[in-house]
Amino acid sequence: MEVVCVGSGYVGSVTGTAFAVLGYPTTIIDTDLRKVKEINRGNSPIYEPGLASCVSQMVSTSLLSATQTYDCVYHADVVFIAVGTPSKSDGTVDLKYVRSAARSIGEHLNAGKFTVIVNKSTVPVGTSDLVASIIEEASGLHNNRHFAVVSNPEFLREGYALEDVFFPDRIVIGTASHKAMKVMQKLYAPLVERTDYSGLFEHFAFPYNINSPKAVYFETDTKSAEMIKYVSNAFLSVKISYINEVARLCDSLGANVLDVAHGMGLDSRIGNKFLQVSSGWSGSCFPKDTAEILFESQKYGSELSLVKAAIESNVSMHDYCIQKIQRSLTSLNSKNIGILGLTFKPNTDDARHTQASYIIGKLVDLGANVAVHDPKGMEMFQQMNSHLPIRYCERPTDTAAGADALVLLTHWDEYRLLNWETIYWQMRNRYILDTRNYLKKLNLAELGFMYEGLGIQ
Ligand code: UGA
Repeated sequence: MEVVCVGSGYVGSVTGTAFAVLGYPTTIIDTDLRKVKEINRGNSPIYEPGLASCVSQMVSTSLLSATQTYDCVYHADVVFIAVGTPSKSDGTVDLKYVRSAARSIGEHLNAGKFTVIVNKSTVPVGTSDLVASIIEEASGLHNNRHFAVVSNPEFLREGYALEDVFFPDRIVIGTASHKAMKVMQKLYAPLVERTDYSGLFEHFAFPYNINSPKAVYFETDTKSAEMIKYVSNAFLSVKISYINEVARLCDSLGANVLDVAHGMGLDSRIGNKFLQVSSGWSGSCFPKDTAEILFESQKYGSELSLVKAAIESNVSMHDYCIQKIQRSLTSLNSKNIGILGLTFKPNTDDARHTQASYIIGKLVDLGANVAVHDPKGMEMFQQMNSHLPIRYCERPTDTAAGADALVLLTHWDEYRLLNWETIYWQMRNRYILDTRNYLKKLNLAELGFMYEGLGIQ
């Protein structure tokens, strides 16, 4: 089978490369010539652990290539749509790239061949029908006869994308077409069965557990598949907001949220994942997806009030962190604050819509001088936040020079490995706010720091 993947962003580049690794000749289409050239040179267009080595090997074996044109759609058996779905000013999803991809796919479909078009991007419920109608119009062909549209939402996490793609918990396939179901079953068979998996990933540097349970392959209708993606992300957001609120209560009551979360997670109905305290969830998925599903639910008179509460709680968690710093330093005016971590989580260069931009913006408004560091995300953060008058530091320790406070927002490994004794002597006032409770085991208080986490004593 020949695979085409439209879009080479965080989802598209990983999806396209993964199918090449599984042995399918794959072409990635992107309008951005720079990304196309990068891929064809064997370089990954994004930073994702392990992806660079996969792309390089797949391009060198000619299983993977990239192009700006849609000609390859003519020969394709399966065409993934993995383009960006940015938010409009009212918070709802802008489908202009999905529409345009569907139109171009329609213009290049082969009338003599059954092609499956797969929505991989996170799109509002009902988008598969929209895509089908655009393709019908552009091609003059009939949905579910000459082609079919499938919803196959992506559940990959940035930073663990390859592990999630090759070792997923579930593969959700939504379509009304029996023929498309068969094509998707065949396409995913090597992944579900893990055929030829032994040794396959040896040369790709990403962590995985070969003994993890096999993926559950779940078939449903398109709308339910689209919905599964949204409500899963919304559920996880609610779960994190809940533990974050519990952390605040622990601060007030003198309990320890690490133990509380551990104790809760021992109940298999609750589970121990996504109970890690933070200054709030952020990134390019949760804020966008919760806003969209809340909007949809309100539009149809079935408001997801828990999701609404989680969104509000999340912003108040950012504010709670600022209040903690304020409480410790009294006034923030002219205070030097170092920020460790700008990406929404470690192991990614993705600094879009992160809590860092909200928190830093407020600190600057309150008169603080802010110095920041991130191992991978500084360039993107700077592009997205050029209005912020802050100092970008090459080394994490540079943020500590003369600082009144250091705030850890993202738990990058390297921050735990810093020489904290040296940092002690660099700082003017030794206040550390660790919003991930990540440095707790270092016993920074014993070194003389005034160390605070969230919900820990
Ligand atoms: C999320 C979902 O986890 C994926 O399943 C989904 O495919 C993806 O969105 C998407 O829609 O494309 P991702 O945004 O990469 O993945 O990141 P997560 O690992 O889910 O983290 C999201 C945010 O929650 C981050 O800011 C993270 O720091 C925060 N978080 C996560 C916590 O604060 N505590 C936790 O316990 C877990």
